[in-house]
Amino acid sequence: MKWYVKALVQNAIAQLPAPVADPLYFQLQRRLGELRNPRFDMRFNAALEVAEALAEADVKLAGKRVLEVGTGRTVDLPLGLWLMGADEVVTVDITRLLRADLVDAAIGYLERSWSDLRPRMLAYADADTLDERFAFLRAARGVDDDGLNAFLGRVGIDYRAPSDAARLSLPDESIDLHVTFVVLQHVPPEPIVNILREGRRVLRRDGHMVHIANTGDHFAHADPSLSPLHFLRYSERQWDLIAGNRFMYQNRMRADDYYARFEAAGLSVAHTKERMDDRALSDLRAGLPLHADFRGRPAERDAVIRFTARLVRDDGPDEAEGGSEAETS
Ligand SMILES: C[S@@+](CC[C@H](N)C(=O)[O-])C[C@H]1O[C@@H](n2cnc3c(N)ncnc32)[C@H](O)[C@@H]1O
Repeated sequence: MKWYVKALVQNAIAQLPAPVADPLYFQLQRRLGELRNPRFDMRFNAALEVAEALAEADVKLAGKRVLEVGTGRTVDLPLGLWLMGADEVVTVDITRLLRADLVDAAIGYLERSWSDLRPRMLAYADADTLDERFAFLRAARGVDDDGLNAFLGRVGIDYRAPSDAARLSLPDESIDLHVTFVVLQHVPPEPIVNILREGRRVLRRDGHMVHIANTGDHFAHADPSLSPLHFLRYSERQWDLIAGNRFMYQNRMRADDYYARFEAAGLSVAHTKERMDDRALSDLRAGLPLHADFRGRPAERDAVIRFTARLVRDDGPDEAEGGSEAETS
């Protein structure tokens, strides 16, 4: 679909009152958009990426209390972390979007993909726990609206919505791991710092955060004619008119802008794994038009369209894990 058609449709639906707009937009996504074939694979892979990021610091998921910010419509990431040993995953969303039918479909995906996923998860998990928990999930097939809460309770998932991640009802230092998957790019720059500061408050001193952000133009996902950095040509005002609605908001921050905000929230980037996109880089080198706000930065930095960053609390030079030097891979 041409990106501007999508933008027009999203803006038009966003004008309607939320009780009408939200179900309508969901139906469109289900029939024509990304929910036609929900990307369960992406979110279970994200759970593996989180486990891998922790393993780099010799940390295991077993026994951990996790906070996920930005649940969305499914609990694939929390389920993946629970399968690999997490005790409990508190998952919060500012909007109540979770759907029992998609949770059930995700279990179906797990069953179909288990021969691929099991060995990958086993690298980070205890075999007995993994197998027992998978067996429980298989037996739980058929989750529906009536059974959703009981199911979540049995798999250690505490779903809280609506709940703003910048104002959590969790005690100080009560969480081992704070995670987000493709959430931060949809939050404006200032609220990101508030979410991170609140996350730091609830994080134990030896805790970790893992944030996975997709920093390319999301319109390019559905319209391959578009550069992954197309959105950098617009002023803030123009971009707000195009994508300032709640269905598509993207902040356009580059990876380095996130790292600066992590630091501003009292967190240190202990490790980051970045994906630089070849097409983005060649488009920039070929003179992709950039708005003045985005000029003057190295093309190699702007062309980073995804990162997985592991953060630790910055409690001063002696206490921060790994000192101040971030490793990049
Ligand atoms: C693009 S969705 C990603 C959802 C999910 N992580 C996934 O992979 O499908 C971003 C989610 O973050 C939620 N969100 C945005 N700001 C938030 C906040 N301040 N507190 C909690 N959730 C928030 C949105 O409501 C939305 O469900």
